[in-house]
Amino acid sequence: MKVVVTGGAGFIGANLCRTLAEGGVDDIFAFDNLSTGRRENLQDGEATLIEGSILDPTALDRAFEGADAVVHLAARPSVPRSIADPLASHDANATGTAQVLEAVRRAGGPQVIVASSSSVYGANPTLPKNEHLTPIPVSPYAASKLATESYALAWGRSFGLDVLAFRFFNVFGPLQRAGHAYAAVIPAFVSAALEGRPLPVHGDGRQTRDFTFVDSVTAVIADAVHRRVTSETAVNLAFGGRFSLIEVIAYLEQVVGHPLERQHHEPRPGDVRDSQADQTTLRALFPDIKPIELDEGLRRTVDWFTSSA
Ligand SMILES: NC(=O)c1ccc[n+]([C@@H]2O[C@H](COP(=O)([O-])OP(=O)(O)OC[C@H]3O[C@@H](n4cnc5c(N)ncnc54)[C@H](O)[C@@H]3O)[C@@H](O)[C@H]2O)c1
Repeated sequence: MKVVVTGGAGFIGANLCRTLAEGGVDDIFAFDNLSTGRRENLQDGEATLIEGSILDPTALDRAFEGADAVVHLAARPSVPRSIADPLASHDANATGTAQVLEAVRRAGGPQVIVASSSSVYGANPTLPKNEHLTPIPVSPYAASKLATESYALAWGRSFGLDVLAFRFFNVFGPLQRAGHAYAAVIPAFVSAALEGRPLPVHGDGRQTRDFTFVDSVTAVIADAVHRRVTSETAVNLAFGGRFSLIEVIAYLEQVVGHPLERQHHEPRPGDVRDSQADQTTLRALFPDIKPIELDEGLRRTVDWFTSSA
């Protein structure tokens, strides 16, 4: 079986390549321009790296030839990045997805799985978030992810492609790095905790997220590839947890074994207040997946930070 993972040298992509390899997929290609991804994320030889951009149709055609599935994760992630440069997010996430879908069509229609985001719910206050709520994006990133999933679903209907659009929530785990201005909250907390710095908290810390350990995400995607699962609507890929940043810090204190100081900063523009997935659709499509709990995920994340320091 041949699977191409765009963004395969990134955080979720490289973890997915490992999960696919462990699940017996023998021909795995990571297609990545290494803008935020890293060659060393694939150091165990689980996938062949193809360096290229999803905005280059010729490179995509070469990579997708003979593929059974394409998992499209390549994107310019992060809300603050999109506030800093909205057109770059549009190019990578909206135009890039359309290019990937066209290449999938030219390749004879491998299954295509795309990564959307819980940020599409944006200003819609209803909790938990079910897929039938009206999306109200509040950042260019969220709008571009709505384009990602809308294009995939429309290409499915228009051209008969087997598509599956997942809305990831806050994914965390090994290979997700801190040390840059756009770091996600858990790596930012873990690296501060291990280096003895105060934990940076935007706002009051009572905002809530459905934190999802990366292995739970990659297990669902691998199952979707093996069973060629499709859906005519987007599917939340999270398990209905709702944790405030203050609660995450309390868990982290248990893992590292001592109290942690916090430093509060201004709330960030484009961030939503609360997020929690309704997991009904996910559970119906993937009844056998058992998610990893937040405390266990944090423990494994701290272990990775410690061993890669
Ligand atoms: N991490 C999360 O919590 C989260 C939440 C919601 C959605 N997502 C989505 O999941 C996907 C993976 O995110 P991640 O957290 O692993 O981020 P990441 O930055 O680690 O991965 C993105 C990868 O895409 C590559 N890339 C970017 N532009 C490219 C281009 N033009 N051509 C080829 N490759 C390109 C990068 O080099 C990187 O390896 C993204 O689509 C993101 O929007 C992530």
